[in-house]
Amino acid sequence: MKNILILGGTGKTGRRIVRRLEAAGRTVRTASRAGGDVRLDLDDPSTWAPALDGVAAAYILEPNRRSSADPRAGVPGFVTRAVAAGVGRLVLLSAHGVGEAGEANPLWAAEQAVRGSGVDWTILRPDWFSQNFSESFWLPGILDGTLALPTGDGRTPFIDAEDIADVAVAALTEDRHSGRIYPLTGPRAISFGEAAELIGDAAGRTVRHLDIDPAVFVERSVAGGVPAGMARLLTGLLVAIRDGGNSPVSDGVEQALGRPPRRFEDYVTETAATGVWNPPGTD
Ligand SMILES: NC(=O)c1ccc[n+]([C@@H]2O[C@H](COP(=O)([O-])OP(=O)(O)OC[C@H]3O[C@@H](n4cnc5c(N)ncnc54)[C@H](OP(=O)(O)O)[C@@H]3O)[C@@H](O)[C@H]2O)c1
Repeated sequence: MKNILILGGTGKTGRRIVRRLEAAGRTVRTASRAGGDVRLDLDDPSTWAPALDGVAAAYILEPNRRSSADPRAGVPGFVTRAVAAGVGRLVLLSAHGVGEAGEANPLWAAEQAVRGSGVDWTILRPDWFSQNFSESFWLPGILDGTLALPTGDGRTPFIDAEDIADVAVAALTEDRHSGRIYPLTGPRAISFGEAAELIGDAAGRTVRHLDIDPAVFVERSVAGGVPAGMARLLTGLLVAIRDGGNSPVSDGVEQALGRPPRRFEDYVTETAATGVWNPPGTD
């Protein structure tokens, strides 16, 4: 049986996709720089051939949101090699706003490569993931009780990574998603203040959002080890939420799956039950 290759197979979306495909009896190959079935580094084309051998469909992401000057590396280079290796279907994890951002956004080149690949393709453009609060960069603030972000009272329709995985699996396994671009959001826009309150209530602790100056946020991010360019990029995206430039609620999940997206409140309830929001040393 032909393989389905999952880049970022150990990450927030990838591992959820793998779980679903394996449960459905599909043959899956996870790829990452460490910890997957096969070692694959998007920055190192010499690692690509073994991962692509016998692959029918691939889930692709650009983990570093950087653009490469070398067209042979990164997602554009990988897409060319994947098609040459016989991959017939590509599902790209992009991001909200890429369509409007144009070439300035590093994911633009990735989208163009997939759209021009000549094989079946689907593009997912998710809003901010709910799981950033529990599996990624906002977790330390939640555990600390103060989530300091330059987002003011701005609101955004967080998307549950479980929904992204459901859409990705559909696109990897069903013909009808070919040529589609799905904007993926939750069912309503939520401020970071409300998100912090919902999480605090569910975790039985006080958690608050603190609006901070964007320049201070960049400084803190860099001091915490985030590369300066990435820190500025992320800050710009957060400030856009503050300034009302967040993405509107979309019906992409409904279009792809015929059901509404999961509610942020349900994500919070389920995640609180795992204990991930209990600071170390508490019961
Ligand atoms: N978080 C959000 O709110 C959000 C919103 C919209 C879009 N996105 C997009 O989502 C993508 C991230 O997806 P995710 O959250 O599922 O992943 P993730 O949790 O950030 O994990 C990254 C995955 O990619 C792998 N990886 C990292 N560098 C790699 C490289 N050079 N070559 C190959 N694999 C590499 C990692 O494993 P190794 O470290 O072992 O390689 C890991 O499996 C980014 O493109 C981001 O722009 C995120």
